[in-house]
Amino acid sequence: MRIANVLSLLLLLGLRLAGGSPPPQPVECTRGTSDCTVTNVYGSYPDRTICRAANASFPRTEQELVAAVAAAAAAKRKVKVATRHSHSFPKLACPGGRDGTIISTRFLNRTVSVDAARRLMTVESGMVLRDLIKAAAAAGLALPHSPYWYGLTIGGLLATGAHGSSLWGKGGAVHEYVVGLRIVTPAPASQGFAVVRQLVAGDPDLDAAKVSLGVLGVISQVTLELQPQFKRSVRFTTLDDSDMAEKVGVWGGLHEFGDLAWLPRQGKVIYREDDRVDVSTRGNGLNDYIGFRAQPTLGLITARVAQEKLEQNGTDIARCLAARLPPLALELQAYGFTNDGNFFTGYPVVGFQHRIQASGSCINSPEDGLLSSCTWDPRIRGPFLYNSGFSVALSKAPAFVADMQRLRDLNPRAFCGIDFTLGILMRYVKASSAYLGKAEDCVDFDVTYYRSYTDGEPRVHSDVFDELEQMALRKYGALPHWGKNRNSAFDGAVAKYPKSGEFLKVKDRYDPDGIFSSEWSDQVLGIRGSPNIVAKRCALEGLCVCSDDSHCAPEQGYFCRPGQVYKEARVCSQSTAGYLRTKT
Ligand SMILES: Cc1cc2nc3c(=O)[nH]c(=O)nc-3n(C[C@H](O)[C@H](O)[C@H](O)COP(=O)(O)OP(=O)(O)OC[C@H]3O[C@@H](n4cnc5c(N)ncnc54)[C@H](O)[C@@H]3O)c2cc1C
Ligand SMILES: *[C@@H]1O[C@H](CO)[C@@H](O)[C@H](O)[C@H]1NC(C)=O
Ligand SMILES: *[C@@H]1O[C@H](CO)[C@@H](O)[C@H](O)[C@H]1NC(C)=O
Ligand SMILES: *[C@@H]1O[C@H](CO)[C@@H](O)[C@H](O)[C@H]1NC(C)=O
Repeated sequence: MRIANVLSLLLLLGLRLAGGSPPPQPVECTRGTSDCTVTNVYGSYPDRTICRAANASFPRTEQELVAAVAAAAAAKRKVKVATRHSHSFPKLACPGGRDGTIISTRFLNRTVSVDAARRLMTVESGMVLRDLIKAAAAAGLALPHSPYWYGLTIGGLLATGAHGSSLWGKGGAVHEYVVGLRIVTPAPASQGFAVVRQLVAGDPDLDAAKVSLGVLGVISQVTLELQPQFKRSVRFTTLDDSDMAEKVGVWGGLHEFGDLAWLPRQGKVIYREDDRVDVSTRGNGLNDYIGFRAQPTLGLITARVAQEKLEQNGTDIARCLAARLPPLALELQAYGFTNDGNFFTGYPVVGFQHRIQASGSCINSPEDGLLSSCTWDPRIRGPFLYNSGFSVALSKAPAFVADMQRLRDLNPRAFCGIDFTLGILMRYVKASSAYLGKAEDCVDFDVTYYRSYTDGEPRVHSDVFDELEQMALRKYGALPHWGKNRNSAFDGAVAKYPKSGEFLKVKDRYDPDGIFSSEWSDQVLGIRGSPNIVAKRCALEGLCVCSDDSHCAPEQGYFCRPGQVYKEARVCSQSTAGYLRTKT
């Protein structure tokens, strides 16, 4: 029960620290701008390898950016863009090979122009979402939808098709609001090895470039079509999950910013009732989501120690008791929403779009010597997590949800780990013209869950999570979020995009030598190789779907077995026979 105490301490006190150390730099070079490594914000890719690059450049203007691309193109060297914090889980930002180049957009973070009358705003691609939202609001404008976390850059979040939640209007993905961009691509020597291509609304290439996985070139500037500033009214209601399967099919139609979070063990659903209201509606609410606030380092370390003990040596009863606390603590504190920026006095919380749409206060402060940080900061041995996200067609979502509930009913306690990390978030994403966007309206399922610091260590009840992931991806044809997930989720993913062929044609035209392509992008785009890594214990890390016991941990009682509801699934399961074998 130590974990419970620690988390109550962290969460029930409603700690709101002045700030916390911002995340570390993803690009580190040992000799000036040479001999570099690049990593993600968790400090670890799904395959736990380190990504090296020969050198890095940090352009401050578009001309410098063009020069950087030209240098790489002239030398036919691999190149990738790194952003300020690099929040994608997969190895997207790694140039591949060993002598690649990193181009950082860290210093390309200015507003280029705002046309308030036409509601257009143009920004440099390295601008952080927080700053973009602020700059828009200063001009009386609002980006109507965005991811919930504002530490991302506009270039990076577009590359992976990042989104909030909506089926209304153009929908919840940011790329729907892109009406133009400038992208620097390789070019023949006669053109100086690099050119800027300006794409405008109506240009079919924009459908490739607005969700590009970073393989077309470097986006220099993005023009967004915004809306007049507006207010939202938010209410969270927790209900039992008996009719969740039907409700998931209709909730997105009922509320412009609606979402749902399912706590499978508790059998509860947190419905987010969230709609646009007239700007004259009273309220100056603020969303400062608790999970995105800075936490004291000591608390994070202690919480992790307790969680590891529960994982390794705890019982289901202890784990399930502990799992009740985080959701309770968040509910009691209205998830970090306040009615006036200071206090929560009751729902609905009404506030301006720019104060409600996203949060992430843990990135906001100057260095404090790591006294506090974002929960996932890799410099601290705190919580270490996987994040999976996959989208099921809206028409199939009710059946998928019913299947998940069936699996839960077979062994509810196996789902406590998912309750502990605040359940499965369901958000709506609308069909898109983007070649690598969703071809039809979808429900995106998002789960964060325990990851061991030890490579290949079995996770308690990983079989139920792995089964529902395989069920989504294989039985229901779900699309994995490009910026989340473990390797095996991407197996066969690109074939689910009817326009992926169009995308690859644009890629060949823009970057015929593939300098912006890496091993990873070739694998996920189905060009060369497979995202799976088949090896001992690979299924425990999500690097493969098991087909042999050795892909699990037979020595520790984990064998490759069919799923319980989705029989075609293959998951690492603790069979009693195997368990006894290792115990004796
Ligand atoms: C705490 C947290 C919360 C999140 N919440 C959400 C959410 O609510 N909704 C959601 O959809 N996603 C969410 N994500 C995932 C996130 O949106 C994506 O991983 C996003 O792509 C990360 O953006 P980034 O700026 O960090 O880009 P990176 O991860 O650094 O880059 C992503 C890719 O884009 C390329 N790239 C970046 N900039 C450029 C450019 N200018 N030109 C060309 N290529 C470029 C990179 O090379 C890389 O291939 C979340 C992630 C975290 C860690
Ligand atoms: C980066 O390294 C390569 C290979 O060592 C070298 O050819 C190139 O000039 C370097 N570029 C910069 C900008 O330092
Ligand atoms: C750009 O980044 C710098 C920090 O490197 C920051 O001080 C500045 O405010 C940012 N610019 C904008 C427009 O947000
Ligand atoms: C679990 O128990 C074993 C055996 O007693 C011990 O070696 C191990 O350190 C424990 N794990 C944790 C995380 O406490």
